[in-house]
Amino acid sequence: MITINDPAGLGPATGPWRRAGETIAFVPTMGALHEGHLSLVRQARERADRVVASIFVNPTQFNQASDLERYPRTPERDAELLERAGCDLLFLPTPEAVYAEGDATWVVPEGAAEGLEGEHRPGHFRGVATVVLKLFNLVRPDLAIFGEKDAQQLAVIRQMVRDLFVPVEIVAGATVREEDGLALSSRNVRLAPAERRASLVLSRALQAGAEAAEAAGAGGDAGTVRAAMSRVLEAEPRARIDYAEVVDARTFRPVDRLSGEVILPLAVWIGETRLIDNVRVTLE
Ligand code: PAJ
Repeated sequence: MITINDPAGLGPATGPWRRAGETIAFVPTMGALHEGHLSLVRQARERADRVVASIFVNPTQFNQASDLERYPRTPERDAELLERAGCDLLFLPTPEAVYAEGDATWVVPEGAAEGLEGEHRPGHFRGVATVVLKLFNLVRPDLAIFGEKDAQQLAVIRQMVRDLFVPVEIVAGATVREEDGLALSSRNVRLAPAERRASLVLSRALQAGAEAAEAAGAGGDAGTVRAAMSRVLEAEPRARIDYAEVVDARTFRPVDRLSGEVILPLAVWIGETRLIDNVRVTLE
């Protein structure tokens, strides 16, 4: 695996692959890698001839300076893990290389970016969409893989690619979980032991929500699903709910009636740590 810091080095490194007709799959990350990220790299390995991953803790998508400062950084370990998972090229730029002085152009997504994370983290998806488009333009992949763990982010990226005719195929990777159900996240390391136990309330709430959705069936009232999730979450004293919703999988708009593909997204504070998770339910 080669590591490139300077964006100018990407063209010379990937040009020969492209000229040889090889396809390139891209996995953008913010590092502190875990099995969830690595599962995306392995899928990339299966789907394309070459795999590029990036590690960039993107300052513009953080809305709290303290969250950005506290974000875990483990670049040496990450590089080793990526190499073992079959990554060919690691792009590890500095903030100055991605956001040059005088930089003044933003991608401001609406639609799927409104509500939920968009509401609780103002400017977050502007930062995400802008950096992802920058990274796409630098790496020029054929396909890019994003985790379903961040379901609204995936919907926002799909929307951007559709709306702006970005020539990249977007592939979704399933959420990787701990054995007890907690979705892997770089922020899980911040949970104290009692919080770690309390965090199981998210996957339990999703299970209750999915069961309520299946019981209600197509045409059923989405309110019963919200209530089922809230009941489980409210029983955990360490949990503080940001949202527990039922949305259309494509538009991310809350729905009144269950139909087609819906997503049940949750954002819950456990102590000082904000966790998100979701489950997708298809109603026939
Ligand atoms: P980051 O949080 O590092 O996540 C990188 C990718 O890994 C995302 O596509 C995310 O959905 C996926 N991922 C995270 N946890 C996962 C899990 N448990 N199972 C499967 N996939 C998982 O998401 C970002 O970085 C940034 O917003 C980024 C897209 C890189 C733009 O800065």
